[in-house]
Amino acid sequence: MVRDSVLAVLENNRGCIISGGSLAKQLGVSRTAIWKAISALKQSGFDIEAIAGEGYRLALDNDILTDSGIQMFLETKNIGQNLQVLDSVGSTNTVMKQQFADKKPEGFVLVADHQTGGRGRLGRAFHSPAGVGIYMSILLKPKLALDKINFLTIAGAVAVCKAIAENAGFTPQIKWVNDVLYDNRKLCGILTEASLEAETGMLSYIVLGIGINVHNSPLPPEVSEIAASLSSFSGKPLLRNQIAAAVLNQLEVCYTQILDGNYSALLESYKSHMAFLGQKITVHSPQETYAATALDINQSGHLVVLKDDGTHETLFSGEISIRL
Ligand code: BTN
Repeated sequence: MVRDSVLAVLENNRGCIISGGSLAKQLGVSRTAIWKAISALKQSGFDIEAIAGEGYRLALDNDILTDSGIQMFLETKNIGQNLQVLDSVGSTNTVMKQQFADKKPEGFVLVADHQTGGRGRLGRAFHSPAGVGIYMSILLKPKLALDKINFLTIAGAVAVCKAIAENAGFTPQIKWVNDVLYDNRKLCGILTEASLEAETGMLSYIVLGIGINVHNSPLPPEVSEIAASLSSFSGKPLLRNQIAAAVLNQLEVCYTQILDGNYSALLESYKSHMAFLGQKITVHSPQETYAATALDINQSGHLVVLKDDGTHETLFSGEISIRL
């Protein structure tokens, strides 16, 4: 579509004026077709300035998620090279599982500007308003033993931390298992879902769902005390396309470590971002709630705690959550 091609050129030259004639020549279409494409883009909310006698300019701070906008910053070989951005969906994880998981290859990414039924861990909802966040699901098909699946969640959390540090100028922490926090406020949640082959019990695919609060928006009362956005802590202009691509770039690095069996390198990064180690926490499991000290992350990526009665416990992700 001419609209997408015009957008890709403007995005590649963000902040610069490109003449209608040059756009028409580059894309091999008429100037009228360019004009129509610009009108359609403006109607969809893109902040494009028309400068009389000179051309068109996409505003530097225009922050609409697009395929070409993400691809511009993508440095991966596979993850995100096949990518689709949607305006609004129920849940990117659900749509990925229902419509794409069997048909699309490993590395396919589904991104949405808005989720009407964003899902979180432990059956919770994930607040996903339009225009302010990144809600994406990554399809992975690794040949991996089932007891290693938690490393994919770990990879997601490490990738998000590194992408935030690169783009927002501060380094967040990870609250075991995979909440990404800064100043004790949750900036990102990760939901990893696996599908197994019924007959063999082998892994058929993984959907790694990542939700990042980028810009400020009114929060529902149940999360207003615990969540925040990157903008609350960053003095920099933040572009969702750039951050989404940075997460995918970092994820490919972490995912390659898993495929290479280099778990220790990934665990080292995970531990270096881990919040609460050495601190008193409260552990909530379906059976009990108890006080403990968070001691370490073991070689399997599980949290080792020291209970107040002096015994050690190893926590598996499952149904457990921890609080300071
Ligand atoms: C959590 O914090 O409990 C996990 C939240 C995971 C949210 C992401 S947003 C993209 C993907 N689609 C969903 O419905 N959930 C995940």
